[in-house]
Amino acid sequence: MSKVLVCFFSAGGEDVSVGESNELGNTAMMAQEIIKKLNEDGHSVTSFRIQPTIPYPDSYDQKLVKATEERAMQERPEYEGDVADFDDYDTVFVGFPIWCSDMPMIMYTFLEKHVFTGKIVVPFCTHGGSGEVDTFRKVAEKAVGSAPGQGLAMSGDLARKPGGAKQISYWIDQLAI
Ligand SMILES: Cc1cc2nc3c(=O)[nH]c(=O)nc-3n(C[C@H](O)[C@H](O)[C@H](O)COP(=O)(O)O)c2cc1C
Repeated sequence: MSKVLVCFFSAGGEDVSVGESNELGNTAMMAQEIIKKLNEDGHSVTSFRIQPTIPYPDSYDQKLVKATEERAMQERPEYEGDVADFDDYDTVFVGFPIWCSDMPMIMYTFLEKHVFTGKIVVPFCTHGGSGEVDTFRKVAEKAVGSAPGQGLAMSGDLARKPGGAKQISYWIDQLAI
């Protein structure tokens, strides 16, 4: 069984696509299901939640302003702590919400900080209807030297429902890890 790392960013907060306040975060809920399934399959799993040093505002509109600004300036927002012994993992899941048809800039910070050579990198995301919008290709491009695994994009809405867990389970069964 491979040693698996599940890294993700999830802002949560006010969520117009879900229509309610989303405390844990849709991507965090998706990550939870992924971790549960991998554990059930007997993998050794470690998770790392990317927590921005400066938290994002709860308000959707304010978050959108901040995200748009960060993207326009190609910022690399900082996050708290980091994964210990990153080299030890064979497979790395990388999860995020779609922001402005892209990954949140903090994901670029994370991807550029690590060496992915020889690892299988499996992207996942939640979104409000746009799908993964080419972000899985961008993850593969940034994770230089990695082998891309088949990603899964899921609406934030579905990530909160039992149907989401079923889809995650099916998807992981298809991955050669
Ligand atoms: C700043 C911002 C930008 C967003 N941009 C998009 C987008 O371009 N396409 C889309 O489908 N959803 C977009 N969404 C919706 C989120 O991707 C979706 O609600 C996601 O599930 C939120 O995940 P989280 O709760 O883990 O943060 C955006 C949300 C925010 C806050």
